[in-house]
Amino acid sequence: MSLEAHLETTRVAYDVHRVRKDFPILSRKVQGKPLVYLDNAATSQKPASVLKAIREYYESYNANIHRGVHALSIQATEAYESVRRRIQEFVGAREAREVVFVRGTTEGINLVAQTFARRRMREGDEILISGLEHHSNIVPWQILCEQSGAKLRVIPLNDAGELMLDEYEALLTQRTRIVALGHVSNALGTINPVKQMIAAAHRKDIPVLIDGAQAVPHLRVDIQDLDAEFYVFSGHKMFGPTGIGCVVGKAALLEEMPPYQGGGDMIKSVSFEKTVYNDIPYKFEAGTPNIAGVMGLGAAVEYLTAVDHLALEAYEHELLEYATQAVSAIDGVRIIGTAAKKTGVLSFIVNDVHPHDVGTILDREGIAVRTGHHCAQPVMQRFGVPATIRASLALYNTSGEIDALVRGLHKVKEVFG
Ligand code: ALA
Repeated sequence: MSLEAHLETTRVAYDVHRVRKDFPILSRKVQGKPLVYLDNAATSQKPASVLKAIREYYESYNANIHRGVHALSIQATEAYESVRRRIQEFVGAREAREVVFVRGTTEGINLVAQTFARRRMREGDEILISGLEHHSNIVPWQILCEQSGAKLRVIPLNDAGELMLDEYEALLTQRTRIVALGHVSNALGTINPVKQMIAAAHRKDIPVLIDGAQAVPHLRVDIQDLDAEFYVFSGHKMFGPTGIGCVVGKAALLEEMPPYQGGGDMIKSVSFEKTVYNDIPYKFEAGTPNIAGVMGLGAAVEYLTAVDHLALEAYEHELLEYATQAVSAIDGVRIIGTAAKKTGVLSFIVNDVHPHDVGTILDREGIAVRTGHHCAQPVMQRFGVPATIRASLALYNTSGEIDALVRGLHKVKEVFG
């Protein structure tokens, strides 16, 4: 079957044009051209249902949660806690109290580093991450190394941008106190075999944190099946609002962890002599949280749950294959990141044209891509480039938009000879 015919078959099960209608921003023009939004790994667009949920909260039941006996506060509290249960189901957590709301993946990783990991770390211990990590899964661990005298160890990559699993096994030692891994690389799109890697760490009793920020918009995640101690993700990359995300952690560990921040709502009682902390998850949710963000995230989860996930995964896979073939066929293009298992991301360079120049020319055509190091400078260093152009896909992108990208890249070549 030809690629186009295959795409057509997938389209029957997955109606991308119907999906696009759910996202108001996709009908706008940029530079007088239809918007082609290919910067989804940076942040995704929001369906109307997410915008409506945020608006409804502010318009009809805006109140603080867990603090009021009045009707609005009770309604807001119930809505907030119902989102926690929805997220529990979405990722397959055992209990709703295993879901902690945070600002996003970055805050979630910092929380785990400074509460769970910090107490376990002694001079000479090791923290194992990978060469594919986003800065948010590097720097919090470096801070912890500075605080504790622990050492950072890094799983190397092969030339395709895949983790070297033999090296990984060798790096799991008696010194390793935690493994922190991205599920999907934001810079290259590599899907890491996290289930297998978690099992290898567990054989040596080493706990694992998974950064799922780039996975949840694309893959069905089952936290119990993966068995990670912590799984962390952001709302804004999965069609929800910015400023909200989750740490999903095993209850027994969350129970024994100290709080991350002190303040209102994370306590049972306070006196100058002694404060008794609240139960999980509230112990980790100090201060008035991003209530509107939680409402929007709930709508995003509802949106994603309603999508036929197998059809979506097949569709996104075909679209990435289509994009990879079309872009790599352009003379002078080098794709960075050619892992056998990838999702959503096409990173590349065009001859010696600076990626920012490519991005600027594409922008004139209404095409949004990210150019730069993608908050993953060590990945760029591994491949010997300062930056790449990154087209990152989401459930509303089409093969027509990939064709527009290819036309835009031909314009880049015209301009730069
Ligand atoms: N982490 C985001 C990205 O990959 C911002 O672009």
